[in-house]
Amino acid sequence: MILYFTGTGNSLAVAQKLASATGDSLMPLAEAAGKDLSDEECIGLVYPCYDFNTPPAVRDLVARLHLNAKAYLFIVVTCGAQTGNSIWSVRQLLRKQGVRVAYCHKIRMPDNCATLFGRNPNDQLWKLEKYAPRLEQIAADIKARRRCHHFGTPGLAGWLTGIPALEHKILGAFKPVVNADLCVGCGLCVKTCPISNITLDDLSHAAIGTACTACLGCLHACPHQAIQVGGKPVPKERQYRHPESINR
Ligand SMILES: Cc1cc2nc3c(=O)[nH]c(=O)nc-3n(C[C@H](O)[C@H](O)[C@H](O)COP(=O)(O)O)c2cc1C
Repeated sequence: MILYFTGTGNSLAVAQKLASATGDSLMPLAEAAGKDLSDEECIGLVYPCYDFNTPPAVRDLVARLHLNAKAYLFIVVTCGAQTGNSIWSVRQLLRKQGVRVAYCHKIRMPDNCATLFGRNPNDQLWKLEKYAPRLEQIAADIKARRRCHHFGTPGLAGWLTGIPALEHKILGAFKPVVNADLCVGCGLCVKTCPISNITLDDLSHAAIGTACTACLGCLHACPHQAIQVGGKPVPKERQYRHPESINR
């Protein structure tokens, strides 16, 4: 079974590709947390890297998994460029639960936070083609139950964002807010949020809860640019969703 966490569909598309190659089933990580998965002999975790680390929501959900310590467990992290501490930290978390990771790899994808720096993730679609052969290799490795760890050490940035106070501060700067004047209450953001942290309030305006992990899924999905970081609307052409990921 492959468990995924996604804001803009990159990790979902990777999980879907792996599932179709290996015959594994798919489940959102948020749905799997708390369930008894001890009968599963193969578990995959596919999630993005944020700020050279694992999204806090992913760490919280992984900590609530009930896994078989003998299962073949693999991790595939999607990132714009560098995974930092994002594979390392989940390996450590699972190790504390007595579960060893057999295989880990990273795969580069369009960087969905580039939008916030005035760049366009849609200009990075070339990465999908460039890294497709790597994804096929990863799927073949997993199918053959190979054991391998393809990632470096967390590096200085990964080590720094491993400090909770610093991570909290950096991630805080990426958290979106709703501009109520632009929100029409269409509810697309509610559907997109991977941790069901967005609701519609009494005035039918989106309201983002305190558990936000800054995946930016809502910011990219909003058709009215009502979800913003730093008070600036994101131009439509810089909104991104993986072209092949099937919406949940
Ligand atoms: C808040 C935030 C921080 C990010 N930080 C990093 C990073 O440190 N390194 C990196 O390579 N990519 C980073 N990214 C880019 C994502 O890891 C990448 O686009 C990922 O594939 C998104 O996956 P998703 O579409 O499944 O949400 C960041 C994205 C967000 C939203």
